[in-house]
Amino acid sequence: RKAQAWSALFSEPMSELVQRYTASVDFDRRLWRADIEGSLAHAGMLHTQGLLSTEDHAAIERGMAQIRTEIESGSFEWKLALEDVHLNIEARLTQLVGDAGKRLHTGRSRNDQVATDVRLWLRAEIDELLPLLSALQLALVEVAERNVEVILPGFTHLQVAQPVSFGHHLLAYVEMFARDAERLTDVRKRVNRLPLGAAALAGTSYPLDRELVARTLGMEGVCQNSLDAVSDRDFAIEFSAAASLLMIHVSRFSEELILWMSQNYGFIDLADRFCTGSSIMPQKKNPDVPELARGKSGRVIGHLMGLLMLMKGQPLAYNKDNQEDKEPLFDTVDTLRDTLRIFAELAAGITVKPEAMERAALRGYATATDLADYLVKKGLPFRDAHEVVAHAVKDAIALGVDLSQLTLAQLRGYHAAIDEDVYAVLSLRGSLEARNTLGGTAPAQVRGQIARHRARLAI
Ligand code: ARG
Repeated sequence: RKAQAWSALFSEPMSELVQRYTASVDFDRRLWRADIEGSLAHAGMLHTQGLLSTEDHAAIERGMAQIRTEIESGSFEWKLALEDVHLNIEARLTQLVGDAGKRLHTGRSRNDQVATDVRLWLRAEIDELLPLLSALQLALVEVAERNVEVILPGFTHLQVAQPVSFGHHLLAYVEMFARDAERLTDVRKRVNRLPLGAAALAGTSYPLDRELVARTLGMEGVCQNSLDAVSDRDFAIEFSAAASLLMIHVSRFSEELILWMSQNYGFIDLADRFCTGSSIMPQKKNPDVPELARGKSGRVIGHLMGLLMLMKGQPLAYNKDNQEDKEPLFDTVDTLRDTLRIFAELAAGITVKPEAMERAALRGYATATDLADYLVKKGLPFRDAHEVVAHAVKDAIALGVDLSQLTLAQLRGYHAAIDEDVYAVLSLRGSLEARNTLGGTAPAQVRGQIARHRARLAI
């Protein structure tokens, strides 16, 4: 009897501790679907190449179908002693169909096998994440559409800057998420290449048809260097980087939701189902979901750092270090999936408080730039106009009024070119409508963007 699953070379068994330390089956069993898919493609190719008999090929297909049923129904017995998902499935296959099961690993190593499994798994996950990302964008577009005319103070340095449409503000996040989708789509191309056929590290002496396996698995091509194929994990790192950026966008949005919901802003309310109370303060309603998303962005970024550190010192080719790529990658995908789902619902449940937003915009001299622009149109150089308005704002602050509350006589005291028509310019709505350049906050622009997003997301 062999002391270990893989070889008679070993003369002593592993301690329980070492077994637990080296085994990955507790987490990598999640790759089982990809593992079976890859094995079936490999077996089919072995058969086509005359390396596997028709009977053996049929036996493998039969055995794998049975294993699939067992795993799905929960009756499959995962064994820690069999180390990982690959050896567990192969051992069960051999138990079920005998020698045919032992022939499956011809021209293959767990090194190219695991790299293939992770790629197949990640490809499927990306394909599920992309529609969720579209749904979130669509939810935001819908809230934006209802709030094109709602005005809130736009900030720079968190100081009131200029009035903007609330819809326009939300569409800024839609742009970010659209780029995240673009990035995930791009990463997918590099995930979708086939390592199988690289074997342990150097290729194999069997006449394998790697292109055939790639076609069977719907992959866009084969990894062209066997050493690179088994050792590289940059596709996973790239995915984590895209995931981190996505989570940073979610985190910035969360930060704004949290601020906007605080009593000091009072711009929005979040539906109760996304908040919790306090066990001591009866009045509390806390924005837990955005706070957690902000926290979880740190977790995803941490995983990216973990993967980068994992790779940095590895010599070619495969090293067991790479087994550590799975948990961070799995957790990143899980976090992303939940976050995207929850945020699409959360966005739809935002209650907007337009009066509070407008009040805040009026408090901060948000139309000062408009007054300067008005003077420029009357012939003043912009720098001079800027200076004139600074004086007006200074006096208005001292008087405790908004610029629009100064009398025409008072305003004309700053410059004789100021006329009655200045008041249209000093209104929040006038300011908004004036910013009618492409990508600006004028309602006409915002409506155009909404139409563009709707068309883009309709597919
Ligand atoms: N469980 C391993 C991993 O996740 C599979 C490959 C192991 N290969 C080996 N030669 N030990 O990377």
